[in-house]
Amino acid sequence: MIRKISPSMMCVDLMNVERDIRSLEAAQVDYLHIDIMDNHFVPNITLSTDFVNSVREITDIPLDIHLMIENPENSLLAFKGLDANDIVCIHCEATRHIQRALSMVRELGVKVGVSLNPGTPLYMVEDLLEDLDVIIIMTVNPGFAGQKLVPATLDKIRNLRNMLDERGYGDILIEVDGNVSFEHAKSMSEMGANIYVGGSSSIFSKEGTIVENTRKLREIIQA
Ligand code: DX5
Ligand code: ZN
Repeated sequence: MIRKISPSMMCVDLMNVERDIRSLEAAQVDYLHIDIMDNHFVPNITLSTDFVNSVREITDIPLDIHLMIENPENSLLAFKGLDANDIVCIHCEATRHIQRALSMVRELGVKVGVSLNPGTPLYMVEDLLEDLDVIIIMTVNPGFAGQKLVPATLDKIRNLRNMLDERGYGDILIEVDGNVSFEHAKSMSEMGANIYVGGSSSIFSKEGTIVENTRKLREIIQA
């Protein structure tokens, strides 16, 4: 089963972004998870499309862009230089016309993802599977790093994996985002998650360096 690591860039040292990106390169992470928030869909403002475009210029690590913004279809043209290795994920709760919005993401030539808040049921995506490469299961309520996992979301991972396999969409990758700690990562792996967003409770934990923590997380999810 595919197991990939996507460190959350809102957890890097923002005064030393390039230094941390070089550490993430040394750690051989698979993606860089970039959270963009608008203080409307979630009560916070974090990284920006300009940040994405700047990161794109200094590293070849594929980008895993998580749009936590209202009407994300209106902001897609701000991105430059994305390609088929990159992922752009939008929230199904953030637009009235999710299928149209996903089609607009597809036009960027990237991998297309949808994200579900902890309280959003899986049936919200069952008619979108043809449009998707990735589904993010939010394991915390979105908006901040350092939050506690919502326990019910663990079963949601397994239920989604079963739903995808039963409907013939086993290639869609399940991404888990929020409090992906060393402890929770094991359960998430057992439930069938493919992409792990490592943030303050794993890759950027004070327990070790970025390279050490990434190695530890990889050992857990690949066990
Ligand atoms: C939360 C973001 C997450 C967050 C993860 O809204 O989508 O990517 O940065 O941070 P931790 O791992 O600390 O929950
Ligand atoms: Zn995120």
